[in-house]
Amino acid sequence: MAAVALSKSVFLGTGVAESTMFKSTSVVPVRGHIVMTSNFEKTNRYADELKQTAAFISAPGKGILASDESNATTGKRLATVGMDNTVENRQAWRELLYSAPGLGNYISGTIMFDETLFQDSRAGVPFVDILKKQGILPGIKVDTGLQPIDGTDGETATQGLDGLAERCQKYYQQGARFAKWRAVLRVDNEVLPSSTAILENAHGLARYAQICQANGLVPIVEPEVTLGEGDYSIERTAYISEKVNSHVFRLLNEYNVILEGILLKPNMILPGLDVPTPAPEEVARYTVRTMLRSVPGAVPGIHFLSGGMSEEEATLNLQALQAFGPTPWSLTFSYGRALQSSTLKTWSGKEENWDAAQERLVALAKANSEAQLGKYKGPHPSPGGERILQALRLGGAGK
Ligand code: 13P
Repeated sequence: MAAVALSKSVFLGTGVAESTMFKSTSVVPVRGHIVMTSNFEKTNRYADELKQTAAFISAPGKGILASDESNATTGKRLATVGMDNTVENRQAWRELLYSAPGLGNYISGTIMFDETLFQDSRAGVPFVDILKKQGILPGIKVDTGLQPIDGTDGETATQGLDGLAERCQKYYQQGARFAKWRAVLRVDNEVLPSSTAILENAHGLARYAQICQANGLVPIVEPEVTLGEGDYSIERTAYISEKVNSHVFRLLNEYNVILEGILLKPNMILPGLDVPTPAPEEVARYTVRTMLRSVPGAVPGIHFLSGGMSEEEATLNLQALQAFGPTPWSLTFSYGRALQSSTLKTWSGKEENWDAAQERLVALAKANSEAQLGKYKGPHPSPGGERILQALRLGGAGK
């Protein structure tokens, strides 16, 4: 296996020591020199850096903390523990997450919202510096939300291509090295998602990915077949997810996106909410089969979203995936709700709970890191637990 070392170059202009080298064994070795085939790759001055960045984020035992909720959505989350949606409260909440001691042992990247990427801690230290000290790469959500597709049954297209190149340049300057764009596909027993929605979302993801790569950001490509109400089967989700992924990679190819320089963020394969929760082994069997059928081996990492799974379910399912390896890509996490829910509850905005909340976050990250390595033994920091179904993100431009 090729060892990928990422040195200071990806943390441009930061205080990360030269000796901070990160190794990944999850990347398929490429022997000898290969002539690049697309003009996009030949002329992309970031091509090597993109591949290094993606391999770094997908290193063994590492995953992503998704903390890119819009201000409106963060407000809804804060409200669940009785906090107001003020800039100060949002700042304190993100400071709690990013400064948690030891977080960088398990987390290689965090996705941020625009406000947060440019924010400082309450003591005036830029969040990007706090993260870089932890060895965590800053990432940025660049889509601007969902809009209905006319003539469909409430299906959505993701917005945000206008001005995207300029925004990517600004984010790169600020230290971001990867980006996220979330497409949402709804599934039911018979008709959803429509071919219109699949094509529209695949196109949006591909053009977004190309613009990111042209401007130095590794695109997280997120085609979320979202967990929803209904009694549709696990086979149905597997069938739809395979189709969606295949369309997405067809379009990524159309736009000459460099596959070694992206990360995929899909859903695990779960049945509708009216079906009893399947055992981790069943979820894993369908999930790995779906990925093998639809995701090229050149992609370094598949970072699953938690998508409403309980915190423990997300860890157990991640662990179960590893038993179906070895796979060409690493199978790891990019969790929002499954890392934040009990952390936020533990904190509840009270200074005296600060340390306990940070400890909870790190314990959850550690459990998922161990699960990524197939070494998780438990007990889980949040045993049992309900599905976390309140949406973290709202639709609408700029939300
Ligand atoms: P969840 O893990 O809460 O699904 O969020 C991950 C994410 O970033 C979805 O876009």
